[in-house]
Amino acid sequence: MSGQIGHRILLGGLGGDSHSVGLHILHWAFAGSGYRVDFLGTQNTLEDFTRRAAGYDAIMISNMDGHAEHYLRQFSPPKTNGRPLWYLGGNLTIDEGDGYEEQFRRQGFDRVYVKFVDLATILETLGRDLRSVQPAPAASGRARLVRIPEAEFLAEREQVLATWETGAAAADLDANADYIARQPSFAALLAEVEAGRRPMVVQPRSGVPGLAEQTALLCHFRDAGAPGLSFQVDSLTRNNRYADAARGIADSARTGRAVLNGFPLVNQGVAALRGMIETVGVPIQTRHSTRDSRLLAEISYAGGATGFEGGPICYNVPYYKDFPLREAISRWRYVDRLTGLYADRYGIVFDREFFGTLTATLIPPSIAIASNLAEAVLAAEQGVKCVSLAYAEQGNRAQDVAAVRVMAAVAREVLDELGYGDVAVHTVFHQYMAAFPLSEQRSEELIFASGVTAAMAGATRIITKTPAESRQIPTVEDNLRGMELARLGVEAARGRAVPESAVAQESRVVRREVLSIWESLLDCGRGDVATGVVRGFDQGLLDIPFAPSIYNRGETLTARDVQGAIRFVRTGNLRLEPEVVEFHAAKMEERRRAEGIGRDRDYLMVEADVLRIARERYGAWPLDAREVDPAFLALQGEHAVA
Ligand code: 5AD
Repeated sequence: MSGQIGHRILLGGLGGDSHSVGLHILHWAFAGSGYRVDFLGTQNTLEDFTRRAAGYDAIMISNMDGHAEHYLRQFSPPKTNGRPLWYLGGNLTIDEGDGYEEQFRRQGFDRVYVKFVDLATILETLGRDLRSVQPAPAASGRARLVRIPEAEFLAEREQVLATWETGAAAADLDANADYIARQPSFAALLAEVEAGRRPMVVQPRSGVPGLAEQTALLCHFRDAGAPGLSFQVDSLTRNNRYADAARGIADSARTGRAVLNGFPLVNQGVAALRGMIETVGVPIQTRHSTRDSRLLAEISYAGGATGFEGGPICYNVPYYKDFPLREAISRWRYVDRLTGLYADRYGIVFDREFFGTLTATLIPPSIAIASNLAEAVLAAEQGVKCVSLAYAEQGNRAQDVAAVRVMAAVAREVLDELGYGDVAVHTVFHQYMAAFPLSEQRSEELIFASGVTAAMAGATRIITKTPAESRQIPTVEDNLRGMELARLGVEAARGRAVPESAVAQESRVVRREVLSIWESLLDCGRGDVATGVVRGFDQGLLDIPFAPSIYNRGETLTARDVQGAIRFVRTGNLRLEPEVVEFHAAKMEERRRAEGIGRDRDYLMVEADVLRIARERYGAWPLDAREVDPAFLALQGEHAVA
């Protein structure tokens, strides 16, 4: 009776009535029988079904108000190569219904139930009908629906390029492509790491206002062995305040002090970036957190940067108070469409990276992964061919290793399933990203041990911190030291035993959470990821702890368990399985008991956790280690830190 795993069903009500109970039961019954169900709920039009029809094995339409004949007048269900099967049921007529089964079958429905039919019959019939049918390669059909039409994109492009004077230099796509094809490629570098031909990429961050200074910094890092690099864009540019950035550049030049906290790429323009890339000679990526990043992306790509960070969730919800998700998605769709256009037309593949760090603070892996997944699929829908999913270390080694591994595996599965098997998936491990230890000693230990964790997780890349993180924008030396420590950590991991049983246990939990959250987003978006993200945030199905955005519910609360792993104190409106919710509750209860904290004082745990690393109130990094890594201690002896 149970369905073959992988068959897709589109289920929904047709007509004006509000009978939703039966539909929900059908939904759970199909889902529980192994089908992949996209649930449209009640009150759909025929068009709601037909425009989604491609990519489903069966479409189940329920009508309960007896007006089926009216809604279905002259309708013949569309099919391609016999797919999908169309089922019609409910209470189709206001009379006894004699003769209607034949009538609807003549119109082209495969199965018709004019009056009540029980679940067992439907499941059995469906199972039989689909038994010999190969599951549909779903979303390629869906993807075509969401991709911005080229003419529309090109019209928008003219406006985008006109928003600042440096835009014009990015206009000629053919010429850009010709140039970019001759530059080192970030995507190619990542592919080499994935193929085992290169070690994990150790990537430092830097961002200074002057072109010469930024170029010099990157040359230092290159000489220290960095195979791929990036610059951070300043925060005026991130807020699209190019006139203010121009003043900042002028002030920096006049005073000799860095007045901007990063590299103002839009003002610097295409030619400047090209000059920088030619001098540095390794693949370069743009990192930022820009509100409207369309022009920044244009200039980035035209200038030869082959990686671009950001997405509508990760560069919005943790960064802006009032930036509607719908608008953010539309801005980022442009960036992804541009990225995809270069791939389609010229075969140029850019890496699109998502800042899964989010608010950096006590972020549970499942929230970071679900957010990355949504952004990866949105990017793939626009033709992006290479994505890097990022996760920021939280400090429990087994949980951190599990997070990266599950992220890579689930992203691959989801993209494959949606028909994006040709999209390359990479992972980024951010060294601890929340408030950093105040002392250099502890910072160095963290950076080293974090390298060990990244290696155990098998990340494609590690983004490094510096011992100066808690103090200032790092100097060259700070950065070189950070890179060196991380690399030593990665090397120290070689031959070390990974705590596999603990990792496996964490992986199971993370995976279940991710799939629950992901399914709930797809459900509420009726299979459309963009809609799912907008509605999902609204309903709290995805809810990022401590985020500033008013579009985030902020009803989840997290803290560390006794081993330092991140758990939910409150799951808010996340649709997690009861067992999983209980698991978190038990972990938090264990902590409360250990520390004698009352249930009404959970905020004390959260406060302690948020400040714990900066206050250095821990024995060793990672937090579940029994002692400071002996390899790190040995190193310190050698380096004789003052
Ligand atoms: N230079 C170097 N690192 C930077 N970061 C942000 N801006 C810069 C910059 N201009 C890094 C820091 C910060 C993280 C979000 O990114 O490590 O904590």
